[in-house]
Amino acid sequence: MSKAIAIVGCGGIGARHAQALGRTVFDTVVYALDPDERATERAAALFADSKKATGSPATIVRCHHYAELGSPLDVAIVATRASERLRSLEQLLEVGAVRHLILEKFLFSRRDHFAIAKALLNRLGVSAWVNCPRRIYPGYQEIATRMQDSRFVHIEVSASAKVAPIGTIGIHFVDLLQFLCGSCTAPTRLSLTDAQLVPGNRNLSDFSGMLEAFYGSKRLLRYAAIAETDAPLVVSIVGDNIRYVVDESNQCIYASSAQNRWRFEMGEFPVPLQSGLTHAVAEDLIATGTCGLTPYCDSAAVHVAMLDAILCSYRAIEDDLFLEELPFT
Ligand SMILES: NC(=O)c1ccc[n+]([C@@H]2O[C@H](COP(=O)([O-])OP(=O)(O)OC[C@H]3O[C@@H](n4cnc5c(N)ncnc54)[C@H](O)[C@@H]3O)[C@@H](O)[C@H]2O)c1
Repeated sequence: MSKAIAIVGCGGIGARHAQALGRTVFDTVVYALDPDERATERAAALFADSKKATGSPATIVRCHHYAELGSPLDVAIVATRASERLRSLEQLLEVGAVRHLILEKFLFSRRDHFAIAKALLNRLGVSAWVNCPRRIYPGYQEIATRMQDSRFVHIEVSASAKVAPIGTIGIHFVDLLQFLCGSCTAPTRLSLTDAQLVPGNRNLSDFSGMLEAFYGSKRLLRYAAIAETDAPLVVSIVGDNIRYVVDESNQCIYASSAQNRWRFEMGEFPVPLQSGLTHAVAEDLIATGTCGLTPYCDSAAVHVAMLDAILCSYRAIEDDLFLEELPFT
């Protein structure tokens, strides 16, 4: 029987989800929903390119209203902005049944939206996942396997705040720490210091500064988004008997371990694009009911801790104790 997948919000990332779904091996109808006609047009064009290249049996339907979506949906991907996410989630779940949901990060821009979304998802019994995809990159999966017996995990990330600001990118690395710790909960401590507003995506604001997350004293992330540099994003991961430096920009890794007498060896570290991931995640969800992305509850716990830390700095910067909404996407 044919499968049905919806993409809600076909902007920058939504169009990449469409491009990926043009590679699915399942007989699938992909509903691309966005009020903006240009957005669905671009998503359909990227989908068509992939379909042509792979011979996928999937087809795409451009929609501009929620009522045009098929029901039930096997998978729905909510790729609107954080500020719009709750509203689009509510609209989506109102028009029909959804078996599996993938929500983009940053989940919600306001704290009260988390409680409303949780109640809604629980009431409808929808299984939901959050698109923090580093945990499904083969490179990070291999690191996780090699570090599973490590007593400590230290991650240090540094980058220009222009390429990797705290708000839009930091969550990916707190998620990576959670993944490498094998934890389902929020960090035991999470803070943002030296925060400053910097220009973010889509004419919004974001933050430079130092984000720190701890699971106890031995598992920690230090994430420096530096305003006055154009430094690339480099991730250093240290465990008991192993050290990695991952240069994501150049897709390479330097690894050293007690086993090879601590000599650094260089290898490849392919960084998959979203257009090469979504179809595999959707196929996993349809075939097995689960996938490698972060379960919603685990990710919501981390998001709320991040939101609290960022809002705390944002209120101080703006000298406004009552700010409730994050300024980035
Ligand atoms: N997981 C990742 O690696 C990753 C990467 C990029 C972006 N993102 C996240 O994805 C989200 C979207 O980012 P973007 O850059 O694609 O934003 P965008 O502004 O380009 O796209 C958002 C789209 O949503 C549409 N939209 C607005 N309201 C809608 C509604 N009620 N129903 C349906 N569509 C609606 C808009 O017309 C727009 O086309 C952000 O939260 C961003 O942080 C995640």
